[in-house]
Amino acid sequence: MATAIIGTGNIGGTLARHLARGGEPVVLAAKDEANAAALAQELGELARAASVEEAIAEADAVVFAVWLDTTKELIATDARLLENKVVVDPSNPLGFDESGQMIRTLPEGQSAGSIVASLLPADTHYVKALGTLGADSLASAANREPRRAVLFYSTDDDAAAPTIERLIRAAGFEPLKAGGLADAGRIEMPGGDLHQAGLNGALLDLDEARAAVAGEVPA
Ligand SMILES: NC(=O)c1ccc[n+]([C@@H]2O[C@H](COP(=O)([O-])OP(=O)(O)OC[C@H]3O[C@@H](n4cnc5c(N)ncnc54)[C@H](OP(=O)(O)O)[C@@H]3O)[C@@H](O)[C@H]2O)c1
Repeated sequence: MATAIIGTGNIGGTLARHLARGGEPVVLAAKDEANAAALAQELGELARAASVEEAIAEADAVVFAVWLDTTKELIATDARLLENKVVVDPSNPLGFDESGQMIRTLPEGQSAGSIVASLLPADTHYVKALGTLGADSLASAANREPRRAVLFYSTDDDAAAPTIERLIRAAGFEPLKAGGLADAGRIEMPGGDLHQAGLNGALLDLDEARAAVAGEVPA
């Protein structure tokens, strides 16, 4: 089955390119279906565009590559379609104030992951992932040599883990579990010590990433 990517902007568009290049079929949806259609056309036979609802229905894994408030709205509308699916959430608790300044939209200590997970049906397989790098690094660091860059994930769900590991590898990165849902804030920004922003922009290989999960600051 395909992976649905909802949102084809900085993160969703990059992931769609990486996954299609890695041999994974993707179904793309955006607010304006023409945007998803244009990207699907560019990516060729492994990609197609659909409405949000069609994309979710066709997929076994759904990446919500949209802003947190949009993720909340889409889950409210499409909760039943998400039953038994793996839901991948790259969102950060970020927004903009009146002067265009980036601000945290949730209280300190509350992760976007905890909010998204709480809205999903009980049998949805939730994983926080694919938002741990800035979009530029996500685009440029796939298939890094000689050692792949790590993408962290966190989940309490045993069924979600193999799916996200497969997708991260297909996208050209090395997966590493950073803990359970309670640790989602560690891989979000602002504030997450394992988010690229909390690592001063560093991209970690597997050994460095394991040390960072254990709380050892990378050299
Ligand atoms: N940008 C980063 O560096 C970065 C890094 C890590 C994590 N993240 C997180 O990743 C998420 C996406 O960020 P982004 O920078 O990729 O955002 P973005 O470039 O603004 O793209 C947002 C996408 O969401 C789509 N969208 C909006 N409303 C929708 C709806 N109702 N139904 C379906 N699609 C809808 C838009 O569709 P249209 O194309 O039709 O407008 C667009 O493709 C955010 O939660 C962000 O916090 C971003």
